[in-house]
Amino acid sequence: MKILGVETSCDETSAAVVADGRRILSNVVGSQVDLHRPYGGVVPELASRRHLELIEAIVAEALQEGSAPFEQIDAVAATYGPGLATSLLIGLNTAKGIAVSLGIPFVGINHLEAHLYSPLLIEPGGDASHSEDLFPMVSLIVSGGHTILAYATAIGHHEILGQTVDDAAGEAFDKVAKLLGLPYPGGPEIDRLARAGHPSSIEFPRSMLDDPGYNFSFSGLKTAVLYWLRKNRTHRVEDVCASFQEAVVDVLVGKLIRAAEEKDVRTVSASGGVSINSRFREQLTAECQRQGLRLLLVPAPLCTDNAAMIAALAFYKLQQGEPDSLGLDIAPSDGLGGKRFPRPVRQPAPARGKL
Ligand code: KG4
Ligand code: ZN
Repeated sequence: MKILGVETSCDETSAAVVADGRRILSNVVGSQVDLHRPYGGVVPELASRRHLELIEAIVAEALQEGSAPFEQIDAVAATYGPGLATSLLIGLNTAKGIAVSLGIPFVGINHLEAHLYSPLLIEPGGDASHSEDLFPMVSLIVSGGHTILAYATAIGHHEILGQTVDDAAGEAFDKVAKLLGLPYPGGPEIDRLARAGHPSSIEFPRSMLDDPGYNFSFSGLKTAVLYWLRKNRTHRVEDVCASFQEAVVDVLVGKLIRAAEEKDVRTVSASGGVSINSRFREQLTAECQRQGLRLLLVPAPLCTDNAAMIAALAFYKLQQGEPDSLGLDIAPSDGLGGKRFPRPVRQPAPARGKL
């Protein structure tokens, strides 16, 4: 079964064709990073306009690259939330339009759930064996908008163990990069500079690391970097990057490994933009080897936002239930596995004075 996926929840316009929920036939991602860089963050109005300009061409490219013309597509899926409202609308309505015109099922997908199950995906020419027995697993979704530790026993059966109580880890990377005068997005820049720095040169706090729960907090760390920079006018930016990064990575890896122990699972995975971080991958790989845990790291192009993960999850959703109604609305603030009931259609309010 071939599913066309569409993803426009934030600043990536993406379309993909995935076969049987696992095999990626195409995955086209149009990044808007250059558009938003001058503003130091995503500007929602610009993002939605760019999605509108790009979506048709990106869908066409995904179909062509996947050698899957519209007639061969069995279902179409799009992210319905969480994300930027005006961006979500572009992808969701595109997918609905395609479903109507082709007369095929439409599926709305929760973006966070798609990240969670993205280790199931197999890249062209990739090894399929890793995704046979994924469950039970603990998984970290760590991106610019979210930091969530989840426990999953099967597709669609998961619980949140913990999440950030303030900033997401990627947000902390981006904000600290801004303090250091580095370009947006800050994560890759900090990662690059940190390689030439000393991770133990500055003692930054490991917030909530010793807390018995699984929640995270990164806003105190960002403030600690700000105060440190005010007090220390001369510094090696590489050392600040390495020390800050080490503090984030210690907490992410520490909590993920402890969750694996306490939930008694043998499989650990990570997805989302921050999981590309080289120090995070290095430390998590070493720790998993030490503990005898199997680690599934999503390949870098599938860590950041992409439509392949949307198309993949849609396959399992269709296997487990009915397609969605075309009345499914966007849900910008939905959490992981939130309810996705279509909102009731409201009757127009009577005009004033005519009651
Ligand atoms: O998953 P993603 O593309 O978008 C969201 O859904 O948020 O993640 C983007 C985030 C940004 O905050 C970016 O700075 C961060 O991922 N990021 C990194 C790295 N590459 C991207 N953070 C740390 N190290 C990296 N190498
Ligand atoms: Zn994402």
